[in-house]
Amino acid sequence: MKEAVVYYSWTGNTQAGAEKAAELLGVPLIKICEKKERKGLTGFIKSGFQAVNHIESELKPECISQANEFDKLVLMFPIWAGNLIPPIHSFLDQSDFNGKKIILITDQADPKHEKSSEIHNEARKLIEARGGRVVGEFSLTGANPGKFNGEFIAKEIEEIIGKIKEL
Ligand SMILES: Cc1cc2nc3c(=O)[nH]c(=O)nc-3n(C[C@H](O)[C@H](O)[C@H](O)COP(=O)(O)O)c2cc1C
Repeated sequence: MKEAVVYYSWTGNTQAGAEKAAELLGVPLIKICEKKERKGLTGFIKSGFQAVNHIESELKPECISQANEFDKLVLMFPIWAGNLIPPIHSFLDQSDFNGKKIILITDQADPKHEKSSEIHNEARKLIEARGGRVVGEFSLTGANPGKFNGEFIAKEIEEIIGKIKEL
């Protein structure tokens, strides 16, 4: 199976984890990019509002077409305001997952990973509706909002990489 790590990251934590996962798996890394950059406090408030209200965001089309070339995706993204984030909502809505295997990995500030299983379930429904299958789910601890703790998340990836390889 052609495999890739696909991720969205605003403040760099998920990106640090995704880079480590791609390196350890020896597969390409694809970034999900939004057309409009998020910035500062206004961006923070808007991001939470959009997540809570299930508002999608506009993505640069090249990231969707790149991800479509692969049939096993390790999909990594952060949690905002206890909800599925706008760029991932858009990505899942616009992708064709027919016959594909997806491994979901979320990260968030809360070490108890509250809401992560709910968010995985929401993502799974969207993936299954487009013909895909979620074969693994992992919840990681990222950083506090706006902070960077990339080394920690990279370490968490190292701990679970063996399990990911088996899926
Ligand atoms: C707008 C916003 C809302 C957030 N809401 C939550 C939340 O509800 N629960 C939580 O545990 N972490 C929350 N966080 C923290 C992020 O999930 C955490 O910082 C994550 O590691 C960020 O990933 P990134 O650096 O790749 O963007 C939020 C962060 C932002 C920016």
